[in-house]
Amino acid sequence: MDTMIKSQAGVEKDLFPLNGTDYLEFYVGNAKQAAFYYQMAFGFKLIAYRGPETGVPDTASYVLQQGKVRFIVTGAMNPDHPVAKHVLAHGDGVKVMALWVDDAEYSYNLAVERGAKSAGPLEVLTDDDGEIRRASIYTYGETIHTFVERKNYKGIFMPGFQAKESNCELPNVGLQYVDHCVGNVELGGMDKWVKFYQDVMGFKLLVTFDDKDISTKYTALMSKVVSNGNGYVKFPINEPAKGVKKSQIEEYLDFYGTAGVQHIAIATHDIVATIDALRANGVEFLYVPDNYYETVLERVGNIEEDLKELKRLNILIDRDEEGYLLQIFTKPVQDRPTVFFEIIQRKGAKSFGKGNFKALFEAIEREQELRGTL
Ligand code: FE2
Repeated sequence: MDTMIKSQAGVEKDLFPLNGTDYLEFYVGNAKQAAFYYQMAFGFKLIAYRGPETGVPDTASYVLQQGKVRFIVTGAMNPDHPVAKHVLAHGDGVKVMALWVDDAEYSYNLAVERGAKSAGPLEVLTDDDGEIRRASIYTYGETIHTFVERKNYKGIFMPGFQAKESNCELPNVGLQYVDHCVGNVELGGMDKWVKFYQDVMGFKLLVTFDDKDISTKYTALMSKVVSNGNGYVKFPINEPAKGVKKSQIEEYLDFYGTAGVQHIAIATHDIVATIDALRANGVEFLYVPDNYYETVLERVGNIEEDLKELKRLNILIDRDEEGYLLQIFTKPVQDRPTVFFEIIQRKGAKSFGKGNFKALFEAIEREQELRGTL
């Protein structure tokens, strides 16, 4: 069921328009400390807060912003709260991938009509700055999409939140926007969730990777990437494939307890400066051996950056028909080996770094070995 329709004049119209990612909400064990980490390590600015001091007794939420990237970290005040139960089951993780739309009611109704499971009907939130309309549907695992309509709102974030700043001296990191969010789903679940995004939100299948593309001596996975009409929202979806040992996707599913968000890729315009800053702040990245750099230029051809700098920072390079990209992956950012970040700079390339998969998976396997989960 495609949502792109052609008018009589032959102009394509997107029936499920998305303006981009609105925010990502993490449910965490200690929101105050998570907020500090995202400020001091990743350079996010605290802009708003909701909690007991603002009349919400059972949760604390901090809104953090950098470029167009907006995170909320939310923790619970008592063990019976759904946020506390989520953290108990899954550890810290991404609960909400919010999508910015022009008409939340329309998006929600269309999604539910097309088979999405509701996670919360339309709510209209108001304060002196106007109104936010929002409604939510479930996607894989316990993860939800919230459609956020903010065209009649001029406040800092959303009714219910108060503007808040902190004394943190923020590092200049230069993160710009969410490039893609990747989900790990159970064995046999990939096609079901690809079809969900196609049927419910009219996403198109961009690319398919099978275990021949993504396998090492020990582990394998399969992946498909779906994208919305304007290409602003891209969701790669992974499922484990049979390997000699436990794949990183199985490890994720074991620790998270269900399907969920595996990594969030954030774009920068200057990856060397960004990674220099993140490393200086103590952010940990996967290590790729020096010999990667001995042959990489044979594979990717000429690049503008100094290879010595890329090697020093352990930044990876890949090329497709349209250009090249630079990317690097953090280690998991919480105790469990679940969610991590990718930092990416695109120089024409629209792909996802297929040429780096092998080196990356070997890097992940070295980490799995240390954890005793391979
Ligand atoms: Fe990625």
